[in-house]
Amino acid sequence: MIPSVQRQISPVAISTALGHDGRGIFPYTLLPGYRRLLAAVRDTGATVFTKSATRDKRRGNFIPANPLTWKYIRRLPDLGMLNAYGLTNDGVEACAPDIRRACDLGFKIIPNLYPEFVKGTAIAIQETLAAVETYRQHLGPLFRALELNYSCPNSEEAIAKNVVQALQCTRKVRSLYPKLFLIAKLSICHPYEFAQELQRIGVNALHAVNTIPYNIVFPLQRSPLNEVGGGGVSGGPAGPLALRYNRELRQKVDLFLIMGCGVTGADDVKRYFDLGADAVSLCTLALRKPQAAARIVLKFNG
Ligand SMILES: Cc1cc2nc3c(=O)[nH]c(=O)nc-3n(C[C@H](O)[C@H](O)[C@H](O)COP(=O)(O)O)c2cc1C
Repeated sequence: MIPSVQRQISPVAISTALGHDGRGIFPYTLLPGYRRLLAAVRDTGATVFTKSATRDKRRGNFIPANPLTWKYIRRLPDLGMLNAYGLTNDGVEACAPDIRRACDLGFKIIPNLYPEFVKGTAIAIQETLAAVETYRQHLGPLFRALELNYSCPNSEEAIAKNVVQALQCTRKVRSLYPKLFLIAKLSICHPYEFAQELQRIGVNALHAVNTIPYNIVFPLQRSPLNEVGGGGVSGGPAGPLALRYNRELRQKVDLFLIMGCGVTGADDVKRYFDLGADAVSLCTLALRKPQAAARIVLKFNG
């Protein structure tokens, strides 16, 4: 069962740029290039990782309906982005039926869940298990894989400090759902030993890496989003650091490895495959240059 899920992950996947249900984010869906990307994703059966949901509705920094919060997502040079979105979402109960609709339309969706360790480990694990049940209920046999986001830089939780909690949570999900294909999404702040321990306890794949904290990419500059923790950098400016992390990670684990962060063109995708990626993910490119992302999806998945 698990290897068959692995085979179904497309060479190029779209990570979070198609929203909480994987069908696309409004108002991007008004753009012809983004619509072309949606068509390419559906037609090629590209894997879509949803934007993170939390068990319960969560209000982050960026609220789509509130223009005063739009400053929390910014463009950077070199096809980059800085965001402090902060995991605003309507909760799993609301997202799961929408994911089901996206599946019914032909999208190949893997839900992404953010366990809220800030609430305490036991509660976060309990909520994660409840979320799994909600996905099972709404998606039925279509729910075969889950991505656990252990790497958001835009939350109160310090990323590298969640290692013990993340391992406990993964262990519990693994033991109760032995057939669920589990993907852990890592940060550049995580030690490689975390990845190795995840492998040991039975995670099926790793996705590395999430956006990189601003102060790591630009150590000499003050982030324009300093008042909300600095935000995470993605796209071009994050590429060299992400590539370096993934090169080392490939040496440390044998797991199915989805490499991403910093892809701005087909050459970057190729570079990740040359490092030994089993799949490559795109996010920022899909938002900044959706037509270029569509071409990559067609080239590698077509
Ligand atoms: C605006 C924005 C929102 C994001 N939201 C999430 C999220 O909810 N969950 C998550 O795991 N990653 C999230 N990411 C991270 C991306 O999925 C991706 O891992 C990261 O941006 C690095 O890849 P890229 O350089 O191709 O964008 C977000 C990225 C951006 C730019």
